[in-house]
Amino acid sequence: MNLAIIGTGYVGLTTGTCFAEVGHHVVCVDNDEAKVQALQQGQMPIYEPDLEEMIVANVSAGRLSFTTDLASAVRECEIVFIAVPTPPHEDGSVDLSYIEGVSREIADALTPEIGYRIVVDKSTVPVSTGVKVYQVIERYANKGVDVDVVSNPEFLREGCAVHDLLNPDRIVIGADSQRAMDMMKRVYQPFSAPIVEVDLASAELIKHAANSFLALKISYINAVSAVCEKAGADVELVAMGIGLDKRISRHFLNAGLGYGGSCFPKDVKGFINVSEQLGAPLELLREVERVNKAQLERFLSRIRKKLWVLRKKKIAVWGLAFKQNTDDVRESVAIKLIRRLCEEGARVVAYDPKAAVTGARALEGCNVTIADDMYECVRDAEVLVVATEWKQFAMANLVKVRELMRLPIIFDGRNILHGDNAVHAGFEYHSIGRKTLRPDSE
Ligand code: UGA
Repeated sequence: MNLAIIGTGYVGLTTGTCFAEVGHHVVCVDNDEAKVQALQQGQMPIYEPDLEEMIVANVSAGRLSFTTDLASAVRECEIVFIAVPTPPHEDGSVDLSYIEGVSREIADALTPEIGYRIVVDKSTVPVSTGVKVYQVIERYANKGVDVDVVSNPEFLREGCAVHDLLNPDRIVIGADSQRAMDMMKRVYQPFSAPIVEVDLASAELIKHAANSFLALKISYINAVSAVCEKAGADVELVAMGIGLDKRISRHFLNAGLGYGGSCFPKDVKGFINVSEQLGAPLELLREVERVNKAQLERFLSRIRKKLWVLRKKKIAVWGLAFKQNTDDVRESVAIKLIRRLCEEGARVVAYDPKAAVTGARALEGCNVTIADDMYECVRDAEVLVVATEWKQFAMANLVKVRELMRLPIIFDGRNILHGDNAVHAGFEYHSIGRKTLRPDSE
């Protein structure tokens, strides 16, 4: 099938590439000329495992192309996916101006002669956005155009987006017309996943409700981690003990510094806002946000308590990205943590395998040095803080780290190091929701 994807961000670019990979003809559209030119020359705007190779292969197979010409993409493709940003406003409501703008451009390109078109909302949007997109198209398009609007939310995780797209748990299609539903099911024929066929509003709600539930799970285990710290219990054992219950599951029960990224913080806020607008406020999600903020504050106060004064102390931080396997630092807790340490006068040296450039940009104005190497980062440091769950941090040679550091103190904000290894190497090991381990307590 011929598919157009408007917006070449994380969702648009990976979705378009994976559609091409399974055999569709895909044209990805973006209004950023420089980005489109770079993509045409094989340069990646983001780091995402396996994506670059897949783009190169599909471009040379003639199934994937990039353009700024939205109108011709709409004319050529029977299905047009909207995957543009939906950032939050100050009050938590969702900024739908990019969606509205693209809907108008699509409307301008539609004519009765080109035949039936489906416009699909892939971006995360509040419930009833699809109806508004339809109204915009109806208002601005020529009379007699034949169009349906569908919601088809995406559930990929950054860092494993290609895998998630090619192996989805489920595909959600929200359509109020059978013709649109049948065509959308053809798009997903090459994928072996259950298709959840629902109405437009339910599909839109599924996305907000899914992300908010995952954020709630993370905040739940983080709230439990605070209790574990007071009770002398171990949150990892608690998570294992409750996670083996299939109704609960161990996934997304990793205690840490809290959730970040471009999705959970925005979507929890967005869902709270929508629920309030509809008169059914989700107060529960306010607590999810509160716990998420408190998690970083508690961690900072533990570091403060240990070091007494942060001013002029050299603090090494491993991690800038909001999670492993990405260069994305949007709403990254690591960035928030570094900002706070800098504000209190600490000299921070940070390292991230992929997010050095994006991290440095996000930390402009802070007294922070970005190291090229994880071991150089810790040289002479008085404490090492692990802020992102990269695998290579978990595999670090802690004996070498100990030799390089000034004081033997680790604060593991993601519970990824082996506490016993840290203690064997001579460290005092602080983590989340677990007892502090010391060499003399071995
Ligand atoms: C999230 C959802 O997992 C995807 O299903 C969804 O499609 C996506 O948002 C979106 O709406 O586009 P993503 O933000 O890429 O994906 O990353 P996650 O793996 O969900 O991690 C989000 C944050 O939660 C990270 O900061 C991570 O460190 C944190 N996290 C995750 C925890 O603290 N504990 C966990 O157990 C899991």
